[in-house]
Amino acid sequence: MILLTRRYKFSASHRLHAAHLGHEENRELYGKCNNPFGHGHDYTIEVSVAGEMNEQTGKVIRVEVLDRLMQERVLSAFDHKNLNAEVPEFMATPPTTENLALEIRKRLKAHWKSAFPEVSPVLRRVRIYETKRNIFEISEHL
Ligand code: NI
Repeated sequence: MILLTRRYKFSASHRLHAAHLGHEENRELYGKCNNPFGHGHDYTIEVSVAGEMNEQTGKVIRVEVLDRLMQERVLSAFDHKNLNAEVPEFMATPPTTENLALEIRKRLKAHWKSAFPEVSPVLRRVRIYETKRNIFEISEHL
């Protein structure tokens, strides 16, 4: 089994605000990310795929296939967007990076089989760097 990791970048703005909490509680919970005017992040996403190497090609997957999947299902939907206003999933759910990681995994998994019909690579990990100090990861153990 070989683990392949591919890195992507996108920029987006967000505002963290929980509708069921009051002004002070939101301020306390989300700090600067509760700024009513929003703010941006340059996110880096790492997608890790585990699979067996094809003996004939010497590759686990064609990275172009993963690139297309990421472009069509994730990057085009999130890049240079106001996540709260332009991504339906984040209109009611706060676009924390935890929720962003879950949403990215959900989108990839929904289209995984059609992107990789013949081989059986597994989506093993989604990691997002929100800032240099805030890094979130969802790992699936095999
Ligand atoms: Ni933020």
